[in-house]
Amino acid sequence: MQRWGRVVNQAEANPSVKIAVAGSGYVGLIAAVCFAELGHQVVCVDIDHARVAALTAGEVPIYEERLPELLAKHRGRGLSFTTDLKKAARDSEAIFIAVGTPQSATGEADLSQVEASVSEIAASLSEYKMIVEKSTVPVLTNRWIRRTLLTNGARAENFDVISNPEFLREGTAVEDFLYPDRVVIGADHARARELARRIYQPMIDGSYYRRADRVPGARELGEGVLYLETSAQSAELIKHASNAFLAMKISFINAVSNLCELVGSDVTEVARGIGADERIGQRFLNAGIGYGGSCFPKDVRAFYKVAESVGYDFELLKVVERINSVQLQHFMKKLRGALWNLRGKKVGVLGLAFKGGTDDVRESPAIQIVRTLLAEGCQVSVYDPAAMEKARPLLASEPELRFAEDSYSAAEGAHALLVVTEWKEFAQLDLERLRSVMRYPVVIDGRNLFKLERMEQAGFQYHSVGRAMVNGFATEKGGQR
Ligand code: UDX
Repeated sequence: MQRWGRVVNQAEANPSVKIAVAGSGYVGLIAAVCFAELGHQVVCVDIDHARVAALTAGEVPIYEERLPELLAKHRGRGLSFTTDLKKAARDSEAIFIAVGTPQSATGEADLSQVEASVSEIAASLSEYKMIVEKSTVPVLTNRWIRRTLLTNGARAENFDVISNPEFLREGTAVEDFLYPDRVVIGADHARARELARRIYQPMIDGSYYRRADRVPGARELGEGVLYLETSAQSAELIKHASNAFLAMKISFINAVSNLCELVGSDVTEVARGIGADERIGQRFLNAGIGYGGSCFPKDVRAFYKVAESVGYDFELLKVVERINSVQLQHFMKKLRGALWNLRGKKVGVLGLAFKGGTDDVRESPAIQIVRTLLAEGCQVSVYDPAAMEKARPLLASEPELRFAEDSYSAAEGAHALLVVTEWKEFAQLDLERLRSVMRYPVVIDGRNLFKLERMEQAGFQYHSVGRAMVNGFATEKGGQR
């Protein structure tokens, strides 16, 4: 199209795209609000009537920075909610599949929700639509989706299936979506590539980042995002390989932390030293109690299962997984080492979420720790700034468990306090006050939140990960260190 002697591409001519997002979980909901923020007309679909009613009424179902503001900004304007997937698909040009892909009993991803959504969408494909895999799925899923659509009566010329993996982290999901390191589009046909570019155009040309009402981001992206177009299969692999690599980085530093403890060095210094090499990078080198959450444990396993299914033994990933579970056991050993017998002891636990900044407790090492403590006969008092509500149903029938009002109350009368989620507010606790409420001043920190000198000064016996144990308690009482 020619206008005033200038070529106007499709994106400029028709910037707004009608989008349906199937699934209103972490990925679907964030994608839906962010697409609305980019100026598109979005309908977000879920089979859960109560959730759709709550979202329509303006309730925010998950704890996620910036999500409440964006929901308030777009709900009833560019963003609506429904349970009617068929209609949403019929009224849209692009349909993002963001339903759950939980782990099946055998370790593979269970794609039954993807299949159910796709089968339902098939009937709505009377004109061309782009189906987008947004959920984390194994490589070659796009072919299965295509086959399912055809089997359910869709005509081949009426759709393309592309892969647009999501790399957002819970807690910073909105910012990760709008200010990503890269956008990956795995599409095998030009028509779909063109439509995907229309969707991401404000991020590609940087116009979003010049808008006065943009969500502020830590990165400068005025020149636009890195936008990678690949084959559908490559995009699927990029997603799994990225998560597996990050999990490997965490297991690597956790393995190094064990060595640090044995030789008496400090893993935070070692991590800073190795991370300064740009080829390695500083991020995801925090030693701790092992990775958790809805992605890494599931994706590592699904990735080596996929590899297995095509005849490759991805042994490295099995070791990554093993190091991760041993790391948690090692943490519990530190508690036993400090308290001797656990039966009848009062233990305070700070944290339930699988990491700081979220209320998500799926595959949370913190939940496993609480369960182990209870199984060993401890009385447990736990506090988390955001995840208590989500944790309650998982731990409800435990008489020896108390949900405390704050960190100090969780520590009250405790023989030891465990720090298992990296919330900023835990790092800012008044240590003298904390010590004064505890029975024994023993802190076992699985997230290295405190400086060794500070803990020693405050009179704690302090165990952390990959660092020396300090014993301000023994020193004060004239004991030996
Ligand atoms: C992850 C990926 O980062 C994201 O790109 C993908 O889309 C989904 O999975 P998320 O699960 O939200 O995101 O959390 P992330 O911040 O990656 O942390 C995962 C786990 O690793 C947490 O349990 C965290 O505590 C742990 N972790 C992370 C460490 O133990 N050390 C680190 O250095 C970083």
